[in-house]
Amino acid sequence: MKSSLPLLLTLASTTAGLVPRTAPVINRDTVPGLAVLPQPLYTSLFDAAGKLQAVTSNAGHVAPTTTIPEVQELPPVQFKDAKRKKIRYGPFRLPGTKEQNWQLKAMGLSGMADEYVPNLLKPCQECMIGALNADLEYADGKTTDGTAWLHHSVLVTAGPKIRDPICNLSATETIFSSGNERSTIRYHVEASPVKAGYRMHPEDTLTLVGEFKNELESEQWVWLAVGYEYFDGRHPDWKDTHISWLSVQSISSSCGAKTNPYGASNLTAKGVPLTNVFSEHSVPWTSPVDATVLGVGGHLHDGGTALDIYQNEKLVCHAPVEYAKGAGGGMSGGGHGHAGAGADAHAGMEAPKPAVEPEHIKSMGGCRLLTPVKKGDTFHLVAHYDLEKHPGSKMEDGSLDEVMGVGTILFFTEPNP
Ligand SMILES: *[C@@H]1O[C@H](CO)[C@@H](O)[C@H](O)[C@H]1NC(C)=O
Ligand SMILES: *[C@@H]1O[C@H](CO)[C@@H](O)[C@H](O)[C@H]1NC(C)=O
Repeated sequence: MKSSLPLLLTLASTTAGLVPRTAPVINRDTVPGLAVLPQPLYTSLFDAAGKLQAVTSNAGHVAPTTTIPEVQELPPVQFKDAKRKKIRYGPFRLPGTKEQNWQLKAMGLSGMADEYVPNLLKPCQECMIGALNADLEYADGKTTDGTAWLHHSVLVTAGPKIRDPICNLSATETIFSSGNERSTIRYHVEASPVKAGYRMHPEDTLTLVGEFKNELESEQWVWLAVGYEYFDGRHPDWKDTHISWLSVQSISSSCGAKTNPYGASNLTAKGVPLTNVFSEHSVPWTSPVDATVLGVGGHLHDGGTALDIYQNEKLVCHAPVEYAKGAGGGMSGGGHGHAGAGADAHAGMEAPKPAVEPEHIKSMGGCRLLTPVKKGDTFHLVAHYDLEKHPGSKMEDGSLDEVMGVGTILFFTEPNP
């Protein structure tokens, strides 16, 4: 991994001489998108001051070597005029399930590896990112088998020209988040009359926050392979797309809101349902800018029946869930649904098959829109669950596992050049 920190600091201080700007800070308050991470991991990522702590799982261990190149140039798969690069970050050590590490002691999670890596190698100096996806690979370049899970990976950009359009707070932005469903996040809509993408400036840095899980007692080493599909160079005439993440799991994704106006949660602090049938609302997101929504999508676990997204209390997208026997293939035998513009399904790896094949989420709808947003408009999601109709994923002791309700709102604004 190359470090572009000196470059960033030079450029940031040069820019700071012209326009007073706060230096990019990555912490609990400035990266609301990190709240899509499950509890209690989310909380454990920050020190008492709310600053993200550097964590990797490699210290004191010898990493394997690989002959697979760090950067691979590939033909595009999403957009015909785009360039595609796969960048392998790592390697990362996955501890064996019996290892007595802080994840086991503090969170009761075995075989878990947590990684926070700043200054990742970027796909381009300056470009418009069209789509991203992430995969977990072994030293030989093969996708990991069912014994190594991509629990979560999140990418955060930081730079003096970035103004987080979600909370209007900081010079950082969460641009990517994926679990083991390994969905593709899209910032560009090829069929749209509007040319748009996520703008990467030369001085921007990229930070990884990842959590990977081992199912074996012996350690394993993996690489996080991020696929970037992008349009190289400056595109001053293109619009800037952004994604606002809504989540039922944590109110910290809500730009400082302390309470949920929709009442007490129907989930425990760890995201486990308190009842079998419920409709959980996210805290609303208030847009700090005028914008246009290009599409909305979302993500539920098994047991989910539909996801609704509202703009100013008016339903703008109803995304029903479709089930099938043996479908899915998410974590711990559970299934996940992913939908819509912004995010969609992509075959994950197969979980071990139980004796009687339960139904799992096969697919979820989403909505492509071209809807104006006024500064001050609110958006919230409602995740509908019925665990009597569709059993949820279970922990090893038979109790219910956490559920998720995540929504993505893909919108564009005028460029902030
Ligand atoms: C929890 O469920 C109740 C009853 O269905 C509902 O009124 C409430 O809004 C839900 N809470 C949240 C945070 O959505
Ligand atoms: C966003 O923050 C900037 C700088 O603090 C401020 O000038 C601007 O008015 C804010 N925009 C909104 C929509 O609140």
